[in-house]
Amino acid sequence: MKNFAQKVAVVTGAGSGIGRYLAVLLARAGADVVICDINPDTLAETEAMLRRYNVAVTSIAVDMGDKAQVTALPEQVIARHGKVDLLFNNAGVTVGADFENMSEADWDWVMNINLNGVVNATRAFLPHLRAQPEAALINTSSIFGMIAVAKQSSYHATKFAVRGFTEGLIREFKDTNLSVHCVHPGHIGTNIVANSRFTEIETEPDNSPSGFAGNHTEMANLFRDHGMHPSRAAGIILKGISRGKRRIFVGLDAKLLDLAQRISPMHYDKLMPLFMLPLTILRNKKPIKDLA
Ligand SMILES: NC(=O)c1ccc[n+]([C@@H]2O[C@H](COP(=O)([O-])OP(=O)(O)OC[C@H]3O[C@@H](n4cnc5c(N)ncnc54)[C@H](O)[C@@H]3O)[C@@H](O)[C@H]2O)c1
Repeated sequence: MKNFAQKVAVVTGAGSGIGRYLAVLLARAGADVVICDINPDTLAETEAMLRRYNVAVTSIAVDMGDKAQVTALPEQVIARHGKVDLLFNNAGVTVGADFENMSEADWDWVMNINLNGVVNATRAFLPHLRAQPEAALINTSSIFGMIAVAKQSSYHATKFAVRGFTEGLIREFKDTNLSVHCVHPGHIGTNIVANSRFTEIETEPDNSPSGFAGNHTEMANLFRDHGMHPSRAAGIILKGISRGKRRIFVGLDAKLLDLAQRISPMHYDKLMPLFMLPLTILRNKKPIKDLA
C-alpha cells in the first residue's frame, strides 16, 4: 500500500506510545483513523492530538483481551466509516516475573491481550479487509518474538506466537488484495513498562527484565527516556508498509539482535552486551521534527 490518504485505519493501543503515533502519522497522511484503547483518558489525549488534521476520527474504548468486545468492533467501525482498509494490532502488555512466581491471572492477562486479542481482531476484521481493493493487516510482535530473556516468558510466548501466526498469514494472503506485515520493534521509549505488571520489584540490575535497577516507576521512566521516540518507530512502520516489507524491524538494536540469534541461536545473549550500551547512547530519542 503506497498511499494512506482516504483509507480507514484501525489502531489498537492508540492511547500511548507507538499506537498513538501511528494514529498521528496516519492522520497526517490523510487517513481516517479509528483509535482503540482500554484507557479512555489517554485515548482522549490522542484524539486531541489528531484534531489538527482534517480527517475523521473515532475513539473506541475497548479491552482487546475481551473477545466479545473485540468481535463487536467491526460493526461500530463500519457504521461510522463504511469500510476498513488497515488494521494495526498494536495493543500489548507485559509481566516481569519468573514463570515459577507468575500468577495464572497474570499469564492469562498477557495471553488474552497480546495473542488472543490479535487473533480475535484479525478474525473479526478479515472479511472487511478482504472486501477492499487494497488492504493491510499489521501485527506487532517484537524483537522479543525472535530472542528471549529471563522474566519475560509470557511476553515471549505471545510475541513468538504472533510472529508465527502472522508469517503464516503472509503466505496465505500472498498475491491477494491483503498485504500482511509483522513488526519487530527494539527498544522504543514508551509507557509499556509503566503499564506492565511485576511479581516483585526488582532491585538488582542483573535480575531486572531490561537490565534496569530500581522500583517500578524508576524502571518505567528509564525505559521511556532511553528508547527510540515512538513517533520515529511509527514512521518506520508506515514506511515499511508502503515499501511492501513483510517483516519490519524497528531500530538498529532489533536488527542486530536478530543477526545475533542467527549467528548464535543458543548463545545470542552473550553478544547482547557488546552493542546494547552503545545503542542506548546512539538512539534517536527526539520526536519527528514537525510533530514536536
Ligand atoms: N516499547 C518497546 O520497546 C516495544 C518493543 C517491542 C514491541 N513492542 C510492542 O509494541 C506495541 C505497543 O506498545 P508500546 O511500547 O507503545 O506500549 P504502551 O504501553 O506505551 O502502549 C500500549 C497501549 O496499549 C493499551 N492497552 C493495554 N492493554 C489493553 C487492552 N486490554 N485493550 C486495549 N488497549 C490496551 C495501553 O493502554 C496503551 O495505551 C505492543 O504490542 C508492544 O508489545 C514495544
